[in-house]
Amino acid sequence: MKLLVICLMIIANIINNGKASLETFKVMSDNWLLEDNTKSPVSCYRPCKFNVEPRFCRYTFEIEPTMTENGKTAITINGKTPGPPINVCVNDFVVVKVKNKIPDQDIAIHWHGVEQVAPHMDGVPMITQCPISYGSTYTYIFNAISPGTFFYHADSVSHHSDGVYGSFVVNQPQPLDHHSALYDYDRSPEYTLLVGARFPMLFTANLEDMSQMAPDALVINGDEDSYKLFVMQGYAYRLRLINAIAIECPVVASIEGHEMTVIATDGKAVKPVSTRSVQLYPGERMDVVVRASQENGGYWLKVHGIEVCAGLTTDAMLIYSGFNYTSMLQNKRTNLINTETDKELGPPVYGQMLESKQNVAQSTPSKTVYLSIDRKAVKHEDNENDFRYISEALPNKPFFPAALSLQDSVVQINGKSFLYPAIPAILSPRYVKLNYVCPVGEEDKSRDPQCVQILTSHEGAVVELVLLNEGFGSNDSYTFHLHGFTMQVVATWQSLDKKPISLEEFKRLDKEKKVIRNLINPPVKDTVTVPNKGYTVVRMRTDLGGSWMLECRACSLSSLPTAILLSVPRSLPLPEQIIKALSLCGNYKPPDVLLN
Ligand SMILES: *[C@@H]1O[C@H](CO)[C@@H](O)[C@H](O)[C@H]1NC(C)=O
Ligand SMILES: *[C@@H]1O[C@H](CO)[C@@H](O)[C@H](O)[C@H]1NC(C)=O
Repeated sequence: MKLLVICLMIIANIINNGKASLETFKVMSDNWLLEDNTKSPVSCYRPCKFNVEPRFCRYTFEIEPTMTENGKTAITINGKTPGPPINVCVNDFVVVKVKNKIPDQDIAIHWHGVEQVAPHMDGVPMITQCPISYGSTYTYIFNAISPGTFFYHADSVSHHSDGVYGSFVVNQPQPLDHHSALYDYDRSPEYTLLVGARFPMLFTANLEDMSQMAPDALVINGDEDSYKLFVMQGYAYRLRLINAIAIECPVVASIEGHEMTVIATDGKAVKPVSTRSVQLYPGERMDVVVRASQENGGYWLKVHGIEVCAGLTTDAMLIYSGFNYTSMLQNKRTNLINTETDKELGPPVYGQMLESKQNVAQSTPSKTVYLSIDRKAVKHEDNENDFRYISEALPNKPFFPAALSLQDSVVQINGKSFLYPAIPAILSPRYVKLNYVCPVGEEDKSRDPQCVQILTSHEGAVVELVLLNEGFGSNDSYTFHLHGFTMQVVATWQSLDKKPISLEEFKRLDKEKKVIRNLINPPVKDTVTVPNKGYTVVRMRTDLGGSWMLECRACSLSSLPTAILLSVPRSLPLPEQIIKALSLCGNYKPPDVLLN
């Protein structure tokens, strides 16, 4: 155990070198993992200060099916959905013990948008860890190195949609925030709005046909009635909006009579933009400042869904202190009818159109990699598809990252569907070689339609990815999430004449300099949308060794996974215990034995 802790500390310190608030950070003892400093759960939420020791913020998540208040079954964390909000300060250590109590199912928790210095804490089964099997426990431990608005969720779309998600905010000393002059209050526990979707049935109980599953309600912080935000007249508040929906359900949010000033997307500061409404794709976050500048009263904060969530709405209340909102609730119905129309609000601001607060120019990419994304008819039979990991490593333990039945077509990247490897990918290539690999960009068309699609980079390289949504087989736009890194979104475009676009066509446009890249202040994001019959071009510096998914989670509903794996061989070896534990997937002991 000591070795692991020391490694963690060393890694944390290397990465954080030079950050002011860490300079005086000392580990007082190396058995902090055993110290139970949170017997009566102490919240880690507090004003963040410079040069103070980080805290260890401990949580236990018991994940199990539960009958909720409305009489429906959900998969809950400690009996609730969403799970406990986590609010910490930058550099705190987050320790989350996850107990899987879902009979016969495996689970893992992904920390969406959180940079993971330790490559085995990202929460993707068979990529960065063994699945957490029924009855076992896994402890996530990581250093919250970057401030921002994040969230956590079960890695599988079905568990996530059934209720396993929650907010995760990393606060920082206020003077470090580029935009602290714009607001008076930033109380993340109260002013975080986590937008989720509810489904009529459990996904987990309907894995064989999830294609017909459409949500029947949107919720804010799990609240179907009205979540309340209390404000004082004249003051400005930082609100954190999170679209925590796993399926392709963008949402639009606005507040009656109030402007919003967008100051961050996916946790990263942007040049402030004022607007009446904002749009968030699944997995995106946006921080906005709202000044309570209207007459003393109560105002509706409204959220409505688009695409598969069209017609669904939910709301919260912005209540000025002293205002009696009883009548507001009574008049809810009439109020909602007489509200501003989308036209009056104007087009919503979305993350990809924003500009970074600071110039983020970086060196020219060493390579450009093309990802042609489209829905394609699949020629093979259902029973030829490998919906789970290749079996020998997990003889009795099928883990189903995708649903069990195939529609007649699936969304593919470069003509392939992603296959989860039979051993955790972070063990490769140094410790073990994966089978069924197809290098991204050099796919062999004649071979299996399913393979472990790997893009290999090296620490410090700059890579450009062209995500091209061709649109021959579908009219859908897709949202992709990148683990481990942030991406600079340098270009995004959608065909106005509704004509599909081929890779040849894109390359021609690019050669003719018609693909305009913003190389000065592109927004920095971990979640991007690729418009149908259009493209999104991103650049990233792959400076973190590990195996990181770039995935379209919503694409794989009722089909095979749509993803590639970005593999960055580590210069530091993995700790021996981690290698041992990961080699045992299938017949494994929960890796938390390492920590106890
Ligand atoms: C608020 O208004 C309701 C009805 O509009 C009234 O019954 C209630 O007494 C009021 N509450 C306070 C604290 O004034
Ligand atoms: C896409 O939209 C066009 C025009 O609205 C329609 O003709 C076509 O059938 C749609 N394609 C698919 C795959 O739904």
